[in-house]
Amino acid sequence: MTILLLAGSPSAPSRSTRVLHHIGEKLALLGHRYTKLDIRDLPGDAVMHADFSNVAIQSALAQVAAASAVVVATPVYKAAYSGALKAFLDLLPQFGLQDKLVLPLATGGGQSHMLALDYALRPVLSSLGPRHVLQSIYATEAQVSWSEEDGLVLAAEIVNRINEGVEQLSNSLLAHQNVSGSGFTAIPFSQIRCSV
Ligand SMILES: Cc1cc2nc3c(=O)[nH]c(=O)nc-3n(C[C@H](O)[C@H](O)[C@H](O)COP(=O)(O)O)c2cc1C
Repeated sequence: MTILLLAGSPSAPSRSTRVLHHIGEKLALLGHRYTKLDIRDLPGDAVMHADFSNVAIQSALAQVAAASAVVVATPVYKAAYSGALKAFLDLLPQFGLQDKLVLPLATGGGQSHMLALDYALRPVLSSLGPRHVLQSIYATEAQVSWSEEDGLVLAAEIVNRINEGVEQLSNSLLAHQNVSGSGFTAIPFSQIRCSV
């Protein structure tokens, strides 16, 4: 089971990408394998022209398809997520996140737009048919800093939130792995009918 770390910032260096890679390292410590995909590394004209014949685009889409989970990182831009991320998500097939777990993550200038993840990005991710979109992680610029000497420094509340998110993602992946390996077919929660 591979986890894809999908970086949606057009900037480098990027706070959201640094937090994303930090999450990858934490998942690796729990025994998970991950791959990285940085949207800013893709050829911009091929993304904008939806050029499916482009080898880099094909390889990026194959990376998404092969992943059991995707951690999606973006900066907040104009009260929403980045246009670079949207342009890439538009290249995915209609149910391009089918059966996958998704953990959304954003960094923003302040707290004002912290709901951008839930109001703007979550509906788009949900439309791609994932198994589950986990609770989002949001950090402000003030809560994420980086220097040559100290590396990545995170505010205590973000450390806690990341630990929770990583644990939820790891547990969900392992639970799914156990169900898949047991011969039982997992039933999505939405298909379970309860009578009272
Ligand atoms: C074009 C642009 C638009 C932005 N719009 C917002 C915004 O609407 N709300 C906000 O909180 N921060 C906004 N920011 C600040 C970024 O979200 C913040 O600096 C973020 O940490 C950048 O992440 P990155 O380093 O991964 O690109 C904006 C930054 C840029 C460059």
